[in-house]
Amino acid sequence: MELVEIRVRTKIPQAELEKKVGKIITEADYNVRLTGPTRVIGPSGQPLAVYLPGVLSGTWNEEHYPTLHTIKQLSDTRGNASGSQYRMKNKQSHANQIASSVIGHFDGSYSTPRTPYCRTTAWTGQHTEQFRSMYPLFEHIGGLMREYVPERHAIQWARAQATDPAWRVPNTPFTTMTVNNTYPTGVHKDKGDLDTGFSCLAVWRRGQYSGGHLTLPEYRVSVDMQDGDLLLMDAHQWHGNTGLELHSEDAERISLVLYYRTALLQCGTVEEEHANKVRFQQKTLKPPSEAEMDADAMAETVTTAVAQHGRTTRWS
Ligand SMILES: [Fe+2]
Repeated sequence: MELVEIRVRTKIPQAELEKKVGKIITEADYNVRLTGPTRVIGPSGQPLAVYLPGVLSGTWNEEHYPTLHTIKQLSDTRGNASGSQYRMKNKQSHANQIASSVIGHFDGSYSTPRTPYCRTTAWTGQHTEQFRSMYPLFEHIGGLMREYVPERHAIQWARAQATDPAWRVPNTPFTTMTVNNTYPTGVHKDKGDLDTGFSCLAVWRRGQYSGGHLTLPEYRVSVDMQDGDLLLMDAHQWHGNTGLELHSEDAERISLVLYYRTALLQCGTVEEEHANKVRFQQKTLKPPSEAEMDADAMAETVTTAVAQHGRTTRWS
């Protein structure tokens, strides 16, 4: 696919950016909307994003929609990514409930005190065949990553190869995926994934809706992802969506984000990590439920440094 290349030369001032963290993007937050195949290069020449419209249309899209549609675990711990104000519930802070799930594999080596061991997330453990049925899709997306961001792919691929096979998807540079269903994310950065890697974001659209434009507010670049589109992006740049307006009962926007979790490199074998789990749970009076474990995983995937307020999402 022939790409147009654009280079952004300036960023918005830091103070202006900080006001947007945790908030839903508005139309006033961008100047450029990508409408065709594009490579976006940052001020220092680094790759920011590669937009590949329609590369997952047709069979890739239709075959995997039924599975992705069913992954709708509710999470209320995504903080800034949920685009909502934190509120106190049972003395814990919670963001609004959002349909966002982590599938694949997850590390426990830092800041998930309830699960300090490597593991496969709940949905994946309970739906092994469905997860595996998506391997060809994951492999195909990995191939597109290799084609369009080869340097990032090479680094991430090498990490994956050095990772115990139990914690990665075979023949891909991916260990973990986030599936979001029909909610706009507030401005955030992803965290825990490989700094020198790249994220791959695919969108499935059903019914009628508008908005949800994925935007890099620091560079004022945005894209209205269509059904079957893929965006390869540096998810360590601030990003978020404009509000979603739903215009039909069946309106649905699924985004699938594939990445490599850095800490999975340190994981032992399945047997070793299971032994870690048993040892830890023997010391714990009340082990967390699988839902709580997945909520911890979800909370670990975004930067939540600044809690902001202001919900501008409109539902109709
Ligand atoms: Fe993100």
